[in-house]
Amino acid sequence: MSSIAATIPIRKETTPFLQDVRAEAAQAESIASLEKGIRSRDEVLAIVAHDLRNPLTVIKTSAALLQMGAGQEQQELLSMILNACGQMQSLVNDLLDVARIESGGFTVERTRVEAADVMEEMRRMFESAAAEKGLRFDVETFGAIPPLYADRNRLIQILSNLVSNALRVTDRGTIRLTVEGDRDKARFSVADTGPGIAAAELPHLFDRFWQVRSSRRGGAGLGLAIVKGFVEAHQGTVEVTSEIGRGSLFSFVIPSYAAAVA
Ligand SMILES: Nc1ncnc2c1ncn2[C@@H]1O[C@H](COP(=O)(O)OP(=O)(O)OP(=O)(O)O)[C@@H](O)[C@H]1O
Ligand SMILES: [Mg+2]
Repeated sequence: MSSIAATIPIRKETTPFLQDVRAEAAQAESIASLEKGIRSRDEVLAIVAHDLRNPLTVIKTSAALLQMGAGQEQQELLSMILNACGQMQSLVNDLLDVARIESGGFTVERTRVEAADVMEEMRRMFESAAAEKGLRFDVETFGAIPPLYADRNRLIQILSNLVSNALRVTDRGTIRLTVEGDRDKARFSVADTGPGIAAAELPHLFDRFWQVRSSRRGGAGLGLAIVKGFVEAHQGTVEVTSEIGRGSLFSFVIPSYAAAVA
């Protein structure tokens, strides 16, 4: 006696609807596992960066102490060690900043800040680097700038990241740092006469670890992600306009003390 099951073939193929559902489920699963992978990478990066800070400080302090009694040859080697430590420290700090921004744990400590002060500090920081490359570095203020409501160190860091990018990619011409203001806010801009950025690259520009493929790689690709995170923590947005062969202009707005605190 044969059973019904034996006579009716079992269909292995599924309906188009079921196939769609399964494909979507598989896609969702792979996106979830990708996101999990990215989260664990970020966590590992944050932990490693944090734990590297202390040994780095020890190396740097010891090298600085050794330099005091060192002869000419050792002096040079110790200077190289100190330089490398400085670079590692700034990478470690950038990684920690990005990790804080990504986790939502980044906060700014805002006080009353004078734009003139910040502009003067920027001039001091970058004028010799620009001169060494044969570039003009113009620092200009338009109109009366009201006292700002900003985290001074973070504001300096935003501008430094923008100016150092401009300096690195520009071979001739001018880097121009400007600020203009009204009662409620000030707009800072950094313009360069460098290679410019292709329109297709602009949407990714502020992603962490992202670098234009053809560009001169300077660092890790974290600077602009940090700029975006810091500007947003000041309730602002960063804008960029660029033209290949002519240069780029980055700008952002910081609220005035009166507008933010009143
Ligand atoms: N002014 C600019 N002109 C042309 N390209 C730029 C400019 N600023 C940034 N870029 C491009 O955007 C990329 C990302 O910049 P970002 O500051 O995030 O990283 P980085 O400078 O490469 O490294 P890091 O800032 O971490 O040291 C740069 O590698 C460069 O390709
Ligand atoms: Mg940079």
